[in-house]
Amino acid sequence: MSAGRGNTFFIHTFGCQMNQADSGIITALLQAEGFVQADQELDAGIVLLNTCAVRENAVDRVEHFLQRLQGRKKREKDLIVGVAGCIPQYKREEMFSLYPAIDFLAGPDTYRTIPSLVEQVRHGGKLASLEFNSFETYEGVEPFRQGATSAFVPVMRGCNNRCAYCVVPFTRGRERSQPFISVISEVRKLVASGYREITLLGQNVNSYCDADEGYDFAALLDAVSREAPLVRIRFTTSHPKDISESLVRVIASHANICNSIHLPVQSGSSRMLGRMNRGHTIEEYLEKIALIRSIIPDVTLSTDIIAGFCGEQEDDHQASLDLLSTVRFDSAYMFFYSTRPGTLAAETLEDDVPEPVKKRRLQEIIDLQNRISAELFHESIGTVVEVLAESESRRSSKQLMGRTAGNRAVVFDRELYECGDLLHVLVTRATSATLTGRPVQ
Ligand code: SAH
Ligand code: SF4
Ligand code: F3S
Repeated sequence: MSAGRGNTFFIHTFGCQMNQADSGIITALLQAEGFVQADQELDAGIVLLNTCAVRENAVDRVEHFLQRLQGRKKREKDLIVGVAGCIPQYKREEMFSLYPAIDFLAGPDTYRTIPSLVEQVRHGGKLASLEFNSFETYEGVEPFRQGATSAFVPVMRGCNNRCAYCVVPFTRGRERSQPFISVISEVRKLVASGYREITLLGQNVNSYCDADEGYDFAALLDAVSREAPLVRIRFTTSHPKDISESLVRVIASHANICNSIHLPVQSGSSRMLGRMNRGHTIEEYLEKIALIRSIIPDVTLSTDIIAGFCGEQEDDHQASLDLLSTVRFDSAYMFFYSTRPGTLAAETLEDDVPEPVKKRRLQEIIDLQNRISAELFHESIGTVVEVLAESESRRSSKQLMGRTAGNRAVVFDRELYECGDLLHVLVTRATSATLTGRPVQ
């Protein structure tokens, strides 16, 4: 291995929490082979992009980075550029002709090959390692983690669903779960290291299954919560058709499991849900919400919603708006539909909602949801909320940012508090995205 800058690497991470967790795995794998993490891209001889393919604009962002890196490569002949994650798994070797800056490609199941890919491309040539491996869970790799307060723990990977719009099953492959014993031992280590919050991750976390030991996700969550009684436990993402009453009861019965559920709905219209191949109707979704609220009355709910999917009419769009008004989610991730080549929708449905209409519908969804979030957040003014301090506030070093158990962001006067502290905050102001307040005893 060459000495100096050639040995240092920097990773830019795009996409979901699973990708963030994966960058920690890639970092650990590289460090184990003697590579050194750089503080910034310019100090690194190896630049990795860990990428997301879920929407066209996610791919555009990466393209932008690759164009810039192409310029850097002209000046710095020994610079190595690798692209990992969902885009190369999706676009495969075509990437090399599209983006000449790239030296190697690795998919979500082949991160273990990255150190040797780096060594091999040093001798010239371009390499791709894009095999699917439905046994790969990265068991035994202890991810590098930034910060000492919150940790992600991927417990299952992959997706066996076939939502018509979605590339994830193509990029992440079949579902597989981390053995129960290995999740518990990771949680034990995180507790011993002083972490205050653990988020269990999976593309469909409710499909977790350790068949040998007989654990489903409800049983895993129950065990994790007992193992880490003083740690906040979160999990994402739940599919509405898989969320079970036993899981909801586990959440309700443990004080340390946050009463906050992310339950993507995608559309308020059963006709659209059918076209999207979601596997449930809107009535079934609302029944799940009613079940959750009957067992956990103070639950906060969040969702994902897509505007302008193939064939969406004004009344379908109105049904999405009505759903937001009915459920009153705490927050939502809102997107307009972006066709993804190779998916069921791209192959069989016409992307027939004109872009200005998609954007107008999305804006109506955003405006309504922001109004609802602002109303719900305003109800907190004058109350005291429990907050886990996570980081310095972006605006001022005299303030910290943290979250309530319901996942609301709270900015408060720092006083003598540090990241990792759990404290009570009196809420004095609210917007649709943030609560503001001051610590109280
Ligand atoms: N496994 C998770 C995450 C999927 S990707 C889940 O099932 O919820 C995150 C979100 O991106 C999805 O919930 C969906 O709302 C959105 N999304 C996925 N494909 C999309 C597309 N082609 N266009 C627009 N939004 C999309
Ligand atoms: Fe995509 Fe659907 Fe799987 Fe979520 S459940 S990752 S939206 S195919
Ligand atoms: Fe994106 Fe892959 Fe996550 S497509 S949303 S990074 S699973």
